[in-house]
Amino acid sequence: MAHPNPVFPVASSIPASWLYNSFRLAAERERRMPGGLIKLHVGEPAFGPPESVARGLAEAALGGRTRYIDVQGLLELREAIRVKLDTVNGIDAPVDQLFVTPGSCQGLAALLRSLAEPGAEILLPEIHWPVHLQQALLAGLRPVFYGLDETYAPDPESIRAAATAHTRILLLNSPANPTGALLGRDTQERLYQLAAEQSWQIVSDEAYEDFDFAAPHVSIAALERDLLPSERRVHSVFTFSKGLAMTGYRLGYVAVARPQVCEAMRMVQESSIIAPSAPIQYAGLSALQAGEALAANHKFVRANRDNVLPALVDAGLLPALPGGGWYAMVDVSPSGLTGEEFAAELMRTEDVVVVPGSGFSARPEFGADGTLRPLHPGGIAGGLVRIAFCVDPEQLATGVERIVALVDRKRTD
Ligand SMILES: Cc1ncc(COP(=O)(O)O)c(C=O)c1O
Repeated sequence: MAHPNPVFPVASSIPASWLYNSFRLAAERERRMPGGLIKLHVGEPAFGPPESVARGLAEAALGGRTRYIDVQGLLELREAIRVKLDTVNGIDAPVDQLFVTPGSCQGLAALLRSLAEPGAEILLPEIHWPVHLQQALLAGLRPVFYGLDETYAPDPESIRAAATAHTRILLLNSPANPTGALLGRDTQERLYQLAAEQSWQIVSDEAYEDFDFAAPHVSIAALERDLLPSERRVHSVFTFSKGLAMTGYRLGYVAVARPQVCEAMRMVQESSIIAPSAPIQYAGLSALQAGEALAANHKFVRANRDNVLPALVDAGLLPALPGGGWYAMVDVSPSGLTGEEFAAELMRTEDVVVVPGSGFSARPEFGADGTLRPLHPGGIAGGLVRIAFCVDPEQLATGVERIVALVDRKRTD
């Protein structure tokens, strides 16, 4: 007999990220009309990983270093990461509190599952990377959204106002996808104080740490390095994907704040992945030596930002240059179109692909019994589109020119 009140698996109420819709539309368009498409929708940089990284991987595989390893990752790599976190980020992270993960995406998902308590709420930025929302919902956390100021930086007062007695976790992402907001030390200190006052844990997603332009990147965990591990609250998440363009390697790491959370995370990882891939971790060891490539990649993305994006600021479509990262949210509302309509017309008439902003500001709704209603794009980023500025400079300049031209054409239509 059918259940009188059919309930659906939580995962079936959460759509795939709307980013994939843009990927799919662009791929379809390329199949019909190969070539000529300017792709500003995807954060795949124009540069690739250094050769030494591929060599590290190949030598490990050829040398038979291909067996199961510790669930937290290769000790040698964790040692090297510990040194990097100490010297670059100012984070004091013992190797037994480090987890090497298949991409930081899996590290984030595992961390949220390790922190989730029944009925707990997580604070997310009102304009967010949709995967953070998916992960929170899958972990059984209830998302609550905090406001951003005109530079898209988290507003501590809005965070205080959004929180409830059920709030347990504050998620921060600096430099941010999709807004490019970079949080300075003052803001991080205020946010840390607030979290400490309220006994929240902080999840700090620092995937774009290497692309800090307006000010140096600050790791919020550095603010608590003098505390005992049992008193710390910042869990920091990093990746090899961005700084060295190792997106397909799938390699990231998490510095867990407290030993108690490590216990849970070990179980989550054992049950999800058994262990991260061994040869890829040897590639990671080589990557940690590639300081010159990292500096060159920083310079490349910065030049794109400084040389091309001012045209959007001058046209009144971008409030200011993004402080960091490699994405910007462009306000196309002067065209009179929604971000979705604009993106569709831009691809159809200008051969440029961007992502509509509505996929970055969806608000889930819950029924009285707590079940998640089907989730749809929408919200405050509806008049914006996201562009990636890590791509080839000429393609970027042409894409930006065509965005400005389309807004102007529509404005006067
Ligand atoms: C904010 C943010 N965090 C994490 C990730 C995950 O990257 P990866 O899983 O490749 O480490 C991404 C990728 O786009 C991202 O934009």
